[in-house]
Amino acid sequence: MPPGPPTITTARLRLRARTLADLEPIVEMDADPSVRQFIGGPLDRATHREEVRRRIVEGRPEPHASWAIEWRDHPGFVGLCHLSHSDEAGLTQIGWRLHPSAWGQGVATEAARAVLERALGPIGLPAIVALIAPENRASIRVAEKIGMAQARMVPYRNVLLAVYRAEQASKPGAQPPVHSS
Ligand SMILES: CC(C)(COP(=O)(O)OP(=O)(O)OC[C@H]1O[C@@H](n2cnc3c(N)ncnc32)[C@H](O)[C@@H]1OP(=O)(O)O)[C@@H](O)C(=O)NCCC(=O)NCCS
Repeated sequence: MPPGPPTITTARLRLRARTLADLEPIVEMDADPSVRQFIGGPLDRATHREEVRRRIVEGRPEPHASWAIEWRDHPGFVGLCHLSHSDEAGLTQIGWRLHPSAWGQGVATEAARAVLERALGPIGLPAIVALIAPENRASIRVAEKIGMAQARMVPYRNVLLAVYRAEQASKPGAQPPVHSS
């Protein structure tokens, strides 16, 4: 098996390393204009399939890991939550996106909260950001619900994105990283 992140279990969800069984669900999700409305538009299936296949085969260990999200009682890919380096913010960023069939059930919040706790806790990162289009109200709400606060705006390609930030509680001047809404 390629190196992948450890599985994280939450009340309703399992966050696990991606496998090749997730390849087509990821390609379908990322070809959906509604999923990509605020994140650059739908991706070409063929090009994206090869890119995602390569990343799954290579594996993506922590700290910059990607977790497939599935229901604990109904396995099967519903979305992704990931950590990656943000050149724009100069920090590790957290991202989330789901197949539309999973929207509106608190899935992104539950998954993102668990990944944020892991990033600021066991992984030991001092701060995490999320870069979100100001029009993407659902994503902003997810960031707010997991305790991230808007810090500033940064240019990204041709747009401005809002930077939401959370820090380790132990850092001087830091805000609590995670709390319930
Ligand atoms: C953003 C996304 C991951 C949210 O997933 P989700 O599981 O539906 O999110 P949750 O249910 O945990 O929380 C969504 C919150 O946004 C709110 N919301 C949803 N649509 C909204 C809108 N148009 N305006 C304002 N609030 C909205 C919901 O009511 C909920 O808040 P609440 O719990 O206070 O009621 C999902 O919509 C998605 O995959 N979008 C496309 C990809 C994307 O844009 N990813 C983020 C890139 S920064």
